[in-house]
Amino acid sequence: MKIKYICIPLLLLFPVLHAGAGLHVTSLKTDYKTNPIGIDNLAPGLSWILQSDRMNTMQESYEIRAALDVRDLERGRNLLWESGRVHSPQSIHVPYEGPTLQSFQRVYWQVRIRDNHGDRSGWSEIASWEMGVLETGQWEAEWISPLLEEDTTRSMPSPYLRKEFSLNSGIRQARLYISCHGLYQAEINGQRVGDQEFTPGWTSYHHRVQYQTYDVKELLNDRENAIGIILGDGWYRGNLAWRDNRNIWGTRLSAIAQLHVWYDNGSMEVIGTDNSWKASSGPILKSDIYNGETYDASLELAGWSNPGYDDREWVKTETMEISRGKLIAPEGPPVRIIEELTPVSIEKAGDDSWLVDMGQNMVGWVRISASGEKGDTITLRHAEVLDREGNIYYDNLRSAEATNRYCLKGDGTEVFEPHFTFQGFRYVMVSGYPGTLHKDHIRGMVIHSDMEPAGTFACSDTLINQLQHNIVWGLKGNFLDVPTDCPQRDERLGWTGDAQVFAPTACFNMHAATFYKKWLKDLAADQREDGMIHHVIPDVLGGGGATGWADAGVVIPWVVFKNYADTMVLADQYESMKKWIGYMEEHAGEDLVWDGDSHFGDWLSFDASRSDYMGAYTVKDLIATAYYSYSSGLVARVSEILGKDAESVYYRELSERVESAFRDEFVTPNARLVSHTQTAYTLALAFELLDGEAEQLAALHLENDVREFGHITTGFLGTPLISLTLTDHGMLDLAYMLVNRKEYPSWLYPVTMGATTIWERWDGQKPDSTFQDPGMNSFNHYAYGAIGKWLYQVVAGIGIDPGHPGYKHVIIHPRPGGGLTRAEASHESMYGTISSGWELDEDRLTMEVEVPANTTASIHIKGEPDHIFMNGTLLDESGIDYRVMEGKVVAETGSGRYRITTTTD
Ligand code: BGC
Repeated sequence: MKIKYICIPLLLLFPVLHAGAGLHVTSLKTDYKTNPIGIDNLAPGLSWILQSDRMNTMQESYEIRAALDVRDLERGRNLLWESGRVHSPQSIHVPYEGPTLQSFQRVYWQVRIRDNHGDRSGWSEIASWEMGVLETGQWEAEWISPLLEEDTTRSMPSPYLRKEFSLNSGIRQARLYISCHGLYQAEINGQRVGDQEFTPGWTSYHHRVQYQTYDVKELLNDRENAIGIILGDGWYRGNLAWRDNRNIWGTRLSAIAQLHVWYDNGSMEVIGTDNSWKASSGPILKSDIYNGETYDASLELAGWSNPGYDDREWVKTETMEISRGKLIAPEGPPVRIIEELTPVSIEKAGDDSWLVDMGQNMVGWVRISASGEKGDTITLRHAEVLDREGNIYYDNLRSAEATNRYCLKGDGTEVFEPHFTFQGFRYVMVSGYPGTLHKDHIRGMVIHSDMEPAGTFACSDTLINQLQHNIVWGLKGNFLDVPTDCPQRDERLGWTGDAQVFAPTACFNMHAATFYKKWLKDLAADQREDGMIHHVIPDVLGGGGATGWADAGVVIPWVVFKNYADTMVLADQYESMKKWIGYMEEHAGEDLVWDGDSHFGDWLSFDASRSDYMGAYTVKDLIATAYYSYSSGLVARVSEILGKDAESVYYRELSERVESAFRDEFVTPNARLVSHTQTAYTLALAFELLDGEAEQLAALHLENDVREFGHITTGFLGTPLISLTLTDHGMLDLAYMLVNRKEYPSWLYPVTMGATTIWERWDGQKPDSTFQDPGMNSFNHYAYGAIGKWLYQVVAGIGIDPGHPGYKHVIIHPRPGGGLTRAEASHESMYGTISSGWELDEDRLTMEVEVPANTTASIHIKGEPDHIFMNGTLLDESGIDYRVMEGKVVAETGSGRYRITTTTD
């Protein structure tokens, strides 16, 4: 046997190991956030990242100290809390355990650690958090509503509210706490407060309304000041959920705000909303999420949020009896403008109109600049696609007008962007533009919940790379304070099933923990007494209890837990999870087979197009019973983690009994399922409802079906699981075949059709370029993007060990195949960067792996131990423990970077 040695100078590959290597603590986070203000968690979780230039570094102990004054912390005196030296590897979600905190207190903290090499870090940089309004009684402000004439059957001009006030000099700190029913934008002394959009966010408004906290010190003057608030209909009372639905939570817009000003001399004052505020309508004539905004610049109220503005014509406001008890601090990330796109082309589309192509199906709006005459009106109508004649196509937006109109005041260059509407679009038809429209007149303002990016994936196939791009843009476009199904038609709702199937992929690509945690609380708040979970959260449809959709209430907390090792999400959602299981118990009844009731099933699965095939319809009872067993099993694991042993036993047994009922009802002795579909076999295998020979036979049935069709036939519930199921059952080649396929139905078919986002349907646009039914044909629907998990986990090989959640122990298991010659992915875990990449050069496989400090990894390497080199050293001589199993080696490593080469003879 001849071994090919590849000599790579070690020095080039790795940081040199030396004694006394640098150990640092960085990236301090409080409840996942950097220096948050206005939080309401009395025991926030503190996390940090270890940076070490040594390999195999683990935290041996930590020490946290906190103070109310930053100078005290620097000097280490008058401390509020000292954890003392805690011998623990825990570096994420360490709860604050100091004295009970009061509203508005700011806590400064830092941490130092020792590692297993005996190295000690210095004290970290100082981080902080600040408490918000913790007690309802501390809301001195009142809810107010403008006394303007209203016709609640349609979108009315946006009210402007204002108030002037004087302050003293010597302002030390100032915070604005603000919320509303509707949407708000606030200004102080002519300047916008903060950069958040769509505030106060979308929650289950009857139970929970978020307030935001802003640092506004820089906006305030000594002496005369003014504050203003603009209100929009938003989700609260605008058009929502088709059917001309309006006023879902109420008919009146209202606001509550209080400005706290703390002075150097220790005094403080509060300026709050009350009925001394005045109101007026202004230039925003109508603003609606689905339909768009109409703005008349000639009606602008110049200087309205500055002191000295003449508001004699303004009307009064009145106070409203609205509970302040439902005001909560936001847990998730705010929506912001995240990036700006420049059009790729602008073409004349008629005498008076221009067709603008942003080059990317995006969500947000267009900022447009123009100069013209007073009264010139520019109309922007948005759409996602062009039809086969190249005409802009609006039909799939259904009743959403998706149109913004700007009426110029005729005063130099005017710049417009809407306030309270967003659209999902790639193309914009601009009509009425005065003059020639150039690229510099237009910007695409991309908005979404401001989550930190957490992953990258790339491989040697450009179409798959475009698929990854489309997945990420599907995510961006549908993470707008709640996880939505789509961002463009008259829907844009928090569909639970879509969220459930996409959550694992979302967590690979973005830091999505707080985004989901916030939404899950709304799910629980809206949950019906009998445990029913609604179809959409916040609930605006009333219906619920659909299998695979309602299970979001169990599956998503579990996904968040696995990704971030956050047991709080399990504790917070536990009652809601149990209620959902209770609902299924009630509905399935004693035989444990959940038949009947209304479900969406394997939504949008492949239709029959062959005369000898009845289509890929999977019986809903089978799906419902499968999910019943799966979710009960998850709740059993959650109970165990939360230390509720008796409940864990109960749910484990329930799950097993349902599993056995599933087998009795739906599985023949030869492991055929009553629905002979890919989805049926996938669910049975993925949820481990079969074992032994039945499992093998079912895998064979799945294999035969995939081979016979040569493509996927799955819908919303089967698609996210089929590739992993094939992989786990020894059919990696078929999983690659599915992902490599370019014809309909497949993931790459839309890519070949020029898609820049994930489509709702496999054939949203058919090969002849005609469209699917416009009644349901979104070109930005992330559900099928759930394949992203497989790209990260199987192709690049970054996986979670559920026994060590949050990537405390990383599974690196890339599975090259499908003709790819290279793949690489990275993921920003709570512990730092994990990366895994591989390259095939003829028979030689090279892997590059990065394992963050304070974690360990099992690295799966295809090959024999005597053909594997770790950082240039033969595995056997590297000192790294390994196991040999079925043609591969599993190396157990600590942190560090590993370049692994394998050779064959
Ligand atoms: C949505 C879906 C959703 C479905 C329920 C549709 O209108 O767009 O994504 O899950 O309804 O079947």
